[in-house]
Amino acid sequence: MIKVEELTVAQATAELARLAGEIARHDRLYHKNDAPEISDGDYDALRRRNDAIEALFPELVRNDSPSHRVGAELAEGFAKVTHSRPMLSLGNAFDGDEVREFDVRVRRFLSLGDDQDVALVAEPKIDGLSASLRYEEGVFTIGATRGDGRVGENITANLRTLRDVPLNLTGDDIPALLEVRGEVYMARTDFEALNAQRLAVDEPPFANPRNAAAGSLRLLDSRITASRNLHFFAYAWGEVTPPPEGTHWDMLERFARWGFAVNPNTQRCADVDQALASYDDLAAIRADLPYDIDGVVYKVDRLDWQDRLGMVSRAPRWAIAHKFPAEQAQTRVLAIEIQVGRTGAMTPVARLEPITVGGVVVSNATLHNQDEIARKDIRIGDTVVVQRAGDVIPQVVEVVLDRRPKGSVAYEFPTECPVCGSRAEREESEAVWRCTGSLICEAQAVERLRHFVGRNAFDIEGLGEKQIEEFWLDKLIQNPADIFTLEARNLALADRPGWKETSVSNLFTAIKARRHVSLGRFIYALGIRHVGETTAHLLAKTYESWDILREQLQAAQDSEGDAYKSLIDIDGIGPKMAETLVEFFAEARNIDAVNELAVAAPPLDYVAPSGPMPLDGKTIVFTGGLETMTRAEAKARAEALGAKVSGSVSKATDYLVAGADAGSKAAKARDMGVETLDEAAWLAMIAGENKS
Ligand code: IVH
Repeated sequence: MIKVEELTVAQATAELARLAGEIARHDRLYHKNDAPEISDGDYDALRRRNDAIEALFPELVRNDSPSHRVGAELAEGFAKVTHSRPMLSLGNAFDGDEVREFDVRVRRFLSLGDDQDVALVAEPKIDGLSASLRYEEGVFTIGATRGDGRVGENITANLRTLRDVPLNLTGDDIPALLEVRGEVYMARTDFEALNAQRLAVDEPPFANPRNAAAGSLRLLDSRITASRNLHFFAYAWGEVTPPPEGTHWDMLERFARWGFAVNPNTQRCADVDQALASYDDLAAIRADLPYDIDGVVYKVDRLDWQDRLGMVSRAPRWAIAHKFPAEQAQTRVLAIEIQVGRTGAMTPVARLEPITVGGVVVSNATLHNQDEIARKDIRIGDTVVVQRAGDVIPQVVEVVLDRRPKGSVAYEFPTECPVCGSRAEREESEAVWRCTGSLICEAQAVERLRHFVGRNAFDIEGLGEKQIEEFWLDKLIQNPADIFTLEARNLALADRPGWKETSVSNLFTAIKARRHVSLGRFIYALGIRHVGETTAHLLAKTYESWDILREQLQAAQDSEGDAYKSLIDIDGIGPKMAETLVEFFAEARNIDAVNELAVAAPPLDYVAPSGPMPLDGKTIVFTGGLETMTRAEAKARAEALGAKVSGSVSKATDYLVAGADAGSKAAKARDMGVETLDEAAWLAMIAGENKS
C-alpha cells in the first residue's frame, strides 16, 4: 500500500473513494447485519488511513466521507429516533503511555498546574452495544439504539423486556427529563446456551456475545428479545433537565438510586496512576467476570471540566478507552481454504482445531493473503498461536516452529478460482489474487448483476438491488443476458409475493426500454476491473462497435501484435488497464457470457456527437462537495462533453465548479477572475446530455 505522504492527488482521490465504500460496507455488516467480516483493529486501520489522507488533502474530503459519520445506516423495520444529543464513541489508548498522554492533553486543555490532579472514574468497557433510554417525569418513554450516533432505531418495546431497564424511576430527586445511556450485553453462559440452541435447529451461531446481544435487541418480535436475558449497565447520559452538577461518580450513584444497574467494578481514581492501577485490577478479574469486557474507560470526574473539554470529531475529549491486549491460545491448522468474495478477491482462511480463546470457541481464522501466509510461513498441520482482541475474526499471530510436523511443505497459493475454475490473477501492486471469471463466477454473481443494472450502466427502472437479489436467489436471473429473456420465459412473476400484474408489466416495459444502450454503457456494465465510465466511453469511441471491440481486445492477447499496440496507444489507457482488459477477454467463459448478452441486448454503435461538444477545450476544476453527483461522476460528465478536468486553479482554468464548503480554490478562482459556477449552474450547463 502506498504511504499516505506519497500519494498523488489522483491516487488520494481514488483511495478516499475506495475507503468510503469499504468502510461503509463494513459499517453495514457490523451495525445492520451484526455480521462483521474484519477485526476491529483492521477496521480502525481503514478509518485511520482515511483520516490521514483527509488531513493531507482537505479539499478531497467527500460528501459521504466516513469521518462525517459515527455508525452505519439504519436497519429497516424500526422507526427512527433523533437523539437530542449525539451518542458519541471513544478514542482509544493501547498502552499506559497513551493514557498518560490523555492526562497531559486534558490538563493542557484546562490549563491546570502540575500540582492539580485530574480525578478519573475507571469503568469496565463492556463489550455490548450502546442504547439510550428516555424518561419523562420518571417514566420510561423511548429506548433507542445508537444508529449513526445522531439518529438511532426505536427499540422501546425490546428494551422494556430487560430487567435492568426500570420502567419507573425510584427515589426523590428524579429529573423532569432524563436520557440514560449505557451498554446492553449478554452474559457468556447465556450466549453459549443460545448458540447451542441455534445449532440444534440448524441456525447459524453468533460469533460472540456482542453480536448475539445486538441480534437479540434488534428483533421485530420483542417476545424473542425477552427470552434472551439481556442486561444493561448505565454509564452515561444525554439530555437531562435540570442539568446534572458535581461529578460523574455522583451521577453514577444517582443512577443506582433511581433503579439502574451500575457496574460494581467501577473505581474512582484520584489521578492517572490510580487509574492505571485499576486497569491492572480489572485485567486480573477479567476472565472471571460473567460477561466480556474489552478494556477500561477513563472519564474525567468533574462535570464542569467535562463541559469545558467538550468533544472532538466523534468522541468526547474527557474520556478514553484503554484496550486490553488480545487473548491468545494455541491450536492446529487442519486446512487452508480459499474464500472468493463478491469482487473476486480470494481470501485464504485457516480451518482450525476448535479452541476456546477469551471465552469463545474459534474454529477458523483469516490468513489475509498470499504474502501474509508466506511471511509467517503458515503450513497445513502447523501449530499456531491465535488471538482474539474483542475481535470477531481471530488472527493467526505466529507458527510454533518447535511443533511443526516432519515433512511439512510450504503452502502454495492456488492460481485458479475454487468456485468457478477460472484463472486467478494477481496484480503487481496488490496483495490479493482475484478470480478473472467475473461474469461466470457464482461468488461474484450478485455483485456483478447489481453493477450491471446500476444507474450508470443499464439503468433499468424497477430492477434494483433488491429485485436482482431476489431473482438471483430463485435462479431466475443468473447472467446479465437472463434479464432480457425474463418475459419470454413466462415465469408467472405476478404470483410472487410483492409482485402484481402491473408491477410485472412495468418491469418488462422498463427492460425493453433499456435493451439497446450505448456501447459505452454496455462496456461499463460488464464490470471489468478498473474500467470505469470514462474508460468505457473511451473504448466505445475508439472501437465504435461491439464486434470490433471484442475482436480487437481478443487479438490484443498477443502483446507483440498491432491490436495490443493500438490498445495502449489510446490516450488514457495505461498498461495496467490494458492488462485487465486483455485478461477479461482472454477468459473463454467471459466471452460466452458477453456474446450471449450481445445477442439478447445488442448495444448501439458509437456515434460521434454532432457539432462541437459544449465544453470542448474548456478546462474545469471541481472543489467542495456536490449534492447530486460524486466527484468522479462530475469529472466523467465533464470529460464526456469535451472538457479537460484539472485538480488546481490556474490561468488556464475556464470554470471552477464550487460545491458545498469550497475552500481555498474558490478564493483563488475569485482572485484570478476565473468564472465560478455553483452546483445549479453546473447542472444547467450539462443538462443537454442525454441518457442513452
Ligand atoms: S462512554 C460519551 N463507557 O464503547 C462517551 N462507553 O468504543 C460514550 N462502552 O459506544 C461512551 N462500556 O458502546 C462508555 N463504561 C463505558 C462503556 C462504553 C462500553 C462502549 C459504548 C461506546 C463504545 C465506544
